[in-house]
Amino acid sequence: MIKRIPGTKDVLPSEIDKWHFIENIVHKIFHNYNYGEIRTPIFEETPLFARGIGEETDIVSKEMYTFNDRGGTSVTLKPEMTAAVVRAFIEHNFDSKQSLNKLYYISPMFRQERPQAGRLRQFHQFGAEVIGSNSPLLDAEIIIIAYRILSSLGLKAILLKINTLGKPLEREKFKNALKEYLYPHFEKLSDDSKKRFSGNILRIFDSKDASDVKIMSSAPNIQDYLSESGIAHFEKVRSVLDKASVPFEVEPKLVRGLDYYTDTTFEILSGKVGSQNALCGGGRYDNLIETLGGKNTPGVGFAAGIERIILALDNENALKLTPEPLDYFIIRLNDDSANAFSVAQHLRDRGFSVELDYLDRSVKAQMREANKLNAEKVVFIGGEEEKDGLLTLKFMKTGEQVSIKPEMISEYKFPAD
Ligand code: HAM
Repeated sequence: MIKRIPGTKDVLPSEIDKWHFIENIVHKIFHNYNYGEIRTPIFEETPLFARGIGEETDIVSKEMYTFNDRGGTSVTLKPEMTAAVVRAFIEHNFDSKQSLNKLYYISPMFRQERPQAGRLRQFHQFGAEVIGSNSPLLDAEIIIIAYRILSSLGLKAILLKINTLGKPLEREKFKNALKEYLYPHFEKLSDDSKKRFSGNILRIFDSKDASDVKIMSSAPNIQDYLSESGIAHFEKVRSVLDKASVPFEVEPKLVRGLDYYTDTTFEILSGKVGSQNALCGGGRYDNLIETLGGKNTPGVGFAAGIERIILALDNENALKLTPEPLDYFIIRLNDDSANAFSVAQHLRDRGFSVELDYLDRSVKAQMREANKLNAEKVVFIGGEEEKDGLLTLKFMKTGEQVSIKPEMISEYKFPAD
C-alpha cells in the first residue's frame, strides 16, 4: 500500500469547512485593507531562497526540498513566500505601476523538518507583503491584520510579541557585543549554540537548553544598540498598536529564523498548541529587495500557518461550524430513476443543492440518507399522484407536504419556510 509522505496531510471533505471558513475570513479582511492577491509557482530557482532567507538559516541549510531538474537547474519547493513575492515584484516591475504594493497570498509551503504536531513538511500559509514604504504605520497595519484575522476566527488564547532588530549596522554592533559576552561562557553552551556562535549568533536566543537559557538571560539587549531613528520607528509602531487596542508584549529576545529582517519583528503565539506554538510571524525587511537584485525598496510582511491555526481552534473549541443543509433530496418510490435525475437537474439548474439515490436503496434507506444530509425538503417521485403529473414535496422542519407539478417545486414556499 502506498501511503502519503510523512509530514503531509490530506484535507478530507469532513474537514474542508474549517479551511473554507479560514480562507473566507482571510480574503475578507485583506479586502478590507485593500490588499491584492498574488499566486506564485510552487518552485523557484534555488538561489532565490538561499540568498533571500540566508545561507546560515535552518531553512536553507537543512530544510529545503532542493533537486536538480532534468535540465540540470537546481530548483526548490518554496519554503516561504516572501522571497517569491519579491522575485515577482522585481520581475514584473510592480513599482513602475504604483509605488506602494500591498499583496497577500494563501499557498502551500515545503520544509523538510522532523514532523510532529503542528510541524509538517507540506503546510499552508496565508500572509502578506507590503513593498514600497518604510512607514511604521505599515508595520502596525501588518500586525493588526494578522491579529484581527486570528481573533475573527474565534481564537482567544493568543499572545502578540514584538521586537525590533534594528538596522544591519546596529545589529552588527549588537552581534559583536553578544559575541564578547558569550565568549567566556562558550564551553557551557549547548552543541547547537556552539555552532550558532560563529554562524547565526542571534539564534542562541531561541535555544530551549537550560544552560543556554540561563546564560542568555543576562545577555546584552538589542534596544541598547538602536539608533534614534530606530527607536522612534519602534515607538510609533507601538503607539499605533495601542490606539488600535491590540495588546502586545515587547520581547527583546524575539529573533526570527530568517535573516532578512530589519527593525520590527513579531510573532503571535497560541497558549493552546504545545511546543509548535507560533501561529504567525513576520516583520520588516528593508534590504531584501535589493539583495534579490531590485532597487533599494523597503518591505514588511507576515505569514501564518493554517494547520497550526486549525490545531489552536480545535484545542480552544472555538469553531462552531454547522454543515450547510441540503436544499432537496429526491426519493424514488418506484424504479424510474431517470425521472428523479431530471427533477434533480431542474432544481440544480436553478442553483439549489440536490441529492438523490444512485444505489437503488429502499425508500426507508433513502429517507435515512435525506436526514443524514440534513435535507430541508424531500421530493417523492412515483407515488399515487404521478398519474396526474404531480409529485410530493415535503418540508422536513414541520412535516407538511403538498402535491405539486415538478416545474413548480423550486418556487413553492411552505408557511414556515
Ligand atoms: P516563518 O516564521 O518561517 O515565517 O513561518 C510563518 C508561520 O508558518 C509560522 O509561524 C508557522 O505558523 C507556520 N509554519 C512554519 N513552518 C511550519 C511547519 N513546518 N509546519 C507547519 N507550520 C509551519 C515566514 O515564513 C516568513 N516568510 C514570514 C514573513 C512574511 N516575514 C515577512 N513577510
